[in-house]
Amino acid sequence: MDRIRIVGGNTLNGIIPISGAKNAALPLMIASLMTSDTLTLENVPHLADVELLLRILGNHGVDISVNGRRERQSGSYARTIHFTCRTIVDTTAPYDLVSKMRASFWVIGPLLAREGRARVSLPGGCAIGTRPVDLFIDGLRALGASMEIDSGYIEATAPKGGLIGASYTFPKVSVGATHVMMMAAALARGATTIHNAAREPEVVDLANCLNAMGAKISGAGTATLTIEGVTSLSGARHRVLPDRIETGTYAMAVAMTGGNVTLEDTDIALLDTAIEALRRAGAEISPVDGGIRIIGHGDAIRPVDIVTEPFPGFPTDLQAQFMGLMTRARGVAHVTETIFENRFMHVQELARLGAKITLNGQTARIEGVPTLRGAPVMATDLRASVSLVIAGLAAEGETLVNRVYHLDRGFERLEEKLTRCGAIVERISG
Ligand code: UD1
Repeated sequence: MDRIRIVGGNTLNGIIPISGAKNAALPLMIASLMTSDTLTLENVPHLADVELLLRILGNHGVDISVNGRRERQSGSYARTIHFTCRTIVDTTAPYDLVSKMRASFWVIGPLLAREGRARVSLPGGCAIGTRPVDLFIDGLRALGASMEIDSGYIEATAPKGGLIGASYTFPKVSVGATHVMMMAAALARGATTIHNAAREPEVVDLANCLNAMGAKISGAGTATLTIEGVTSLSGARHRVLPDRIETGTYAMAVAMTGGNVTLEDTDIALLDTAIEALRRAGAEISPVDGGIRIIGHGDAIRPVDIVTEPFPGFPTDLQAQFMGLMTRARGVAHVTETIFENRFMHVQELARLGAKITLNGQTARIEGVPTLRGAPVMATDLRASVSLVIAGLAAEGETLVNRVYHLDRGFERLEEKLTRCGAIVERISG
């Protein structure tokens, strides 16, 4: 199993290219199931989750061709992938695939809308909480689908003649359930209104792509989506938006180590709340042409309290990284997690590096320490693992992060991007 070895203490200086967003690429790829024409996606990141979804889509009958590998000066590459699903050959998404990546459950929307039926495994639990699918079930039922649970699978069936537009209010904000409802309603008969929809930029990206394919969706980015159903969608070409979580992660790394880094191919407007928190912590952040410049001061980190919330609030996917940063703040900070009930597994690992953190329910109290010391640590989930990398970059001595397959799910060529900016980070294979 691969490990990442970090020798801390260096500042970060240079350019880090930001990849296409994993959380946009996944639903966009799934949207390819909705048309028999070719959907072309540019700027698709090279990540384990994307590769797994390519396999899953292949099982359903999507023909995939990958090309256009494009080297940029700063060393990034982004892929263009063509997806063509002339016919859906299988409407079942099996347990062994869905259990590996929760987002693959989202195929339920397109399969149901296009084929009138889908048999999709329940995703099961995962490290950061129970993550149920009740909102998907209720929402699709509102569109007229019959949703039965049988032997760990959801059997979804549309009424004769297809799904029917409806008005539906989510009792809780869910990114995935919003994606799925939007895709299902796009091919339903009549109009659908979705209230309390997720407002994440990735929802807007999916809506833009679906509209380019001929869907009639308005209101994306607000809490109310209006969707006028159409009978079929065509192909389109769409560029995946920049990864705001990767952007925020590297910004936090620079705030932690100190230095001066330009994050290339990203957009400051995607992460206002996190940028604001970083500025309050003492980092200097400014938009530059096609990216963001961040100047960190390392030793002079100010404590800042944050609470995770659905967009436009502070993203839960940056919570662990921000906590990593706060471990070296000059004072006490509080981090409150409101989205997932068990997203504090990095706390114990950060403590191994010398962080002083106490947990009280959903709130962590972090008392900043002047120095962290390198140690072997264990990655527990995607975002938790990168918080350990951030802490390791600032720790004295060597940090070994075990189980880095979590990192490979969401961070493209992390060690290379950091090494180019002066960090000592290497992957140890085996
Ligand atoms: C997406 C992101 C993930 C991010 C999360 C919250 C992708 C691939 N993943 O995950 O990185 O951390 O948004 O921003 O885009 N819930 C229910 N019932 C449901 C569905 C969700 O109770 O049927 C709950 C979840 O348990 C959680 C909350 O709603 O407590 C928000 O989850 P949701 O927005 O659905 O997360 P994902 O879409 O899975």
